[in-house]
Amino acid sequence: MDTELAELPPRRRTLVAGARVAVTGAGGYSGRVLTRALLDAGTRVVNLTGAPERATPFGERIESRAFAWERPGELERSLAGCEVLFNTYWIRFPRGAATHELAVRRSSELFDAARRAGVRRIVHTSIAKPDLGSPLSYYRGKAEVERALRASGVGHAILRPTVLFGDGDVLLNNIAWCVRRFPCFLVPGDGRYRVQPLHVADFAAALARAAEADGDSTSDAVGAETYEFRELVRTVAGALGRRVAVVGAPKSVVRAATAVLGTCVGDVMLTSQEIEGLCAGLLATDAPPVGSRRLSRWLGEHADDLGVRYANEVARHYRR
Ligand SMILES: NC(=O)c1ccc[n+]([C@@H]2O[C@H](COP(=O)([O-])OP(=O)(O)OC[C@H]3O[C@@H](n4cnc5c(N)ncnc54)[C@H](OP(=O)(O)O)[C@@H]3O)[C@@H](O)[C@H]2O)c1
Repeated sequence: MDTELAELPPRRRTLVAGARVAVTGAGGYSGRVLTRALLDAGTRVVNLTGAPERATPFGERIESRAFAWERPGELERSLAGCEVLFNTYWIRFPRGAATHELAVRRSSELFDAARRAGVRRIVHTSIAKPDLGSPLSYYRGKAEVERALRASGVGHAILRPTVLFGDGDVLLNNIAWCVRRFPCFLVPGDGRYRVQPLHVADFAAALARAAEADGDSTSDAVGAETYEFRELVRTVAGALGRRVAVVGAPKSVVRAATAVLGTCVGDVMLTSQEIEGLCAGLLATDAPPVGSRRLSRWLGEHADDLGVRYANEVARHYRR
């Protein structure tokens, strides 16, 4: 991410020193990497978050504001003076009142507030293959959010990543966590569906480029390597020097196994929707890669620490 902002043509740059932008979840997973690059370029960052009191690696270099849902005036004031809104806000899985429907409504609120605040461009993180007709509320909700953004009247770029990897990630880390502990790894179905992991820094660079571009756009954001899922698990195991049997199992068995494991670690390990999406090949597209960092190399570099600790999504978002 170091050089990408500097390489942008000077005449078009808006992420210049002194410019002010908003990032949702600036201390989160993808938001943190993006924020670091923006701060390095001298851009001022307003962090919109559900936990403004939570420490971020940036200390006083960013200003954290609570999301202020259902207080449109306050949300608008938080965005006042921001050139660009980088939106990562989403709920991975429904839990209690936090549903995908709620996340869709809140995303629309955010876009409306950005328009009223005079934000010039919204760079929005979606998901590969969102679908208004999907039975999966994750993919349907993501498509509804895209629709709301297009209707908002604010200039925008929509990026649709498949699955991200990098420091702080959940999925790869927890695959490694299982590989370190168990002699076999269950994959739903035959495990031959594709995944195209994208390094989070390559994704952040793509977000920054999208902020500088003109016109409205929607594009997939995929990584340089494509794996069959079962091969991905074997690659993780190989990097860790572990031997693991990758065993295909009915989805219902994988659902039950991950539910039991999830209960043991106090997390939702993998949702039914994620199992369906994985098996339907929704984590890969035919788009060209947006970055060059390779998972195989990254695994080698992080073999000592990957999966040593379980990455708990419920703890991150619900136990503050
Ligand atoms: N991670 C991946 O592999 C991946 C793959 C494809 C697409 N995406 C998309 O990329 C975007 C960013 O993902 P990320 O992993 O970087 O997200 P993240 O940092 O975990 O969260 C991004 C933002 O959403 C808020 N949020 C997340 N879960 C929430 C919950 N349960 N309740 C309330 N607020 C919640 C966070 O609030 P706080 O600021 O309060 O933490 C933060 O502002 C999402 O739209 C996701 O769908 C991610």
